[in-house]
Amino acid sequence: MSLIHSQKRVLSGMRPTGRLHLGHYHGVLKNWINLQHEYDCMFFVADWHALTTHYDEPEIIQENVWQMVVDWLASGVNPGSSSLFIQSRVPEHAELHLLLSMITPLSWVERVPSYKDMLVKNNERELSTYGFLGYPVLQSADILIYQAGNVPVGADQVPHIEMTREIARRFNHIYGRDPGFEDLAEVAIRKLGRKNSKLYRGLRRDYMEQGNQESRETALALVSDQKNIPLSDRDRLFGYLEGGGKAILPEPQSLLTDASVMPGLDGNKMSKSYGNTISLREEPDSVDKKIKTMTTDPARVRRKDPGDPNKCPVFDLHKIYSDAEQKEWVIQGCRSGSIGCVDCKKPLIESILEEQQPMRERAKQYEENPDLVKSIVSEGCEKARNIAKSTIEEVRSAMGLDYR
Ligand code: TRP
Ligand code: SF4
Repeated sequence: MSLIHSQKRVLSGMRPTGRLHLGHYHGVLKNWINLQHEYDCMFFVADWHALTTHYDEPEIIQENVWQMVVDWLASGVNPGSSSLFIQSRVPEHAELHLLLSMITPLSWVERVPSYKDMLVKNNERELSTYGFLGYPVLQSADILIYQAGNVPVGADQVPHIEMTREIARRFNHIYGRDPGFEDLAEVAIRKLGRKNSKLYRGLRRDYMEQGNQESRETALALVSDQKNIPLSDRDRLFGYLEGGGKAILPEPQSLLTDASVMPGLDGNKMSKSYGNTISLREEPDSVDKKIKTMTTDPARVRRKDPGDPNKCPVFDLHKIYSDAEQKEWVIQGCRSGSIGCVDCKKPLIESILEEQQPMRERAKQYEENPDLVKSIVSEGCEKARNIAKSTIEEVRSAMGLDYR
């Protein structure tokens, strides 16, 4: 029962390593905000994940934990419908991380694409640590501790969700078997005949141990092709392929955030590391200045020179903020040299300020009253701990750690 319920649970986290910007808003937060009407949402500050890379700068994390929660609230995450909490305040994440690390093959963590990517990207940091290698296992624990069915993330995180599924599957395979189910499945396997039984067992092993999808599909096809076995046996053979009767840790799905990339001030993807961001609660004067000093199509030396919007980062922002009519105005005006870049930027500045206005307003009450933020987070932590406790008890007992 908790399984069906938990499939409606959404969980996601962010690392508090810097202030949030409009790229986070368009790329992630808008998605969170839409989901909170439909799902039981849990959003957390991944401070331990931040420590895996910023272990020598704890003050950055400390500063950004609260700022990040205010940014979430400012963008419209509603504490009435979503639980907001901090990872390190729910120590069950750490226990599950430890327990999952027992069954996670080293090759799985080493082959996660983001591992080598992050090592390269952060080459100024010393990241050959045990903690950093375990990053995706900790993330798996974050998700599985709430038995969350859905995880809204950007495309870069999909390999981590995939690995979470593999770890859950392996866990369920090792610890989740229901003895009655297994006996019946064995009888059904024998009914396949000598050759097909052997084939089925081999494919199942490949899939369970290596996560080999092709083996899973071949086994499914093998079972489907058996015309002479009863339906109940067929279902059992399908089910057995997924690990057996009981799924203690359900496999989550990723909910992909819109693939379109939020452009920054220089035409590259908006990102802290490129220094091309507008922060979520940036002062209006500063927004104005940042847009006014953006470089434009270099062909437009004089105001009358025609330009090409496709060569201009300002137009990339119009694609996000302007309707069809306004974009047409830009294209015509730019190509014919009838509008200047200053004119072109003006409505853009207005749209950004308008978007940020409600955020600044919502943020104000929280900035003035930090205790309010703390109490929202306390409540979220408490709810999170209740769910986490019940999962960790099931996990302990599945692993035989419930002796008294
Ligand atoms: N690794 C994620 C990121 O960098 C943050 C994160 C940590 C996360 N744990 C999570 C996201 C669990 C979703 C679910 O964006
Ligand atoms: Fe860019 Fe607009 Fe100037 Fe054209 S008119 S170059 S799109 S800022």
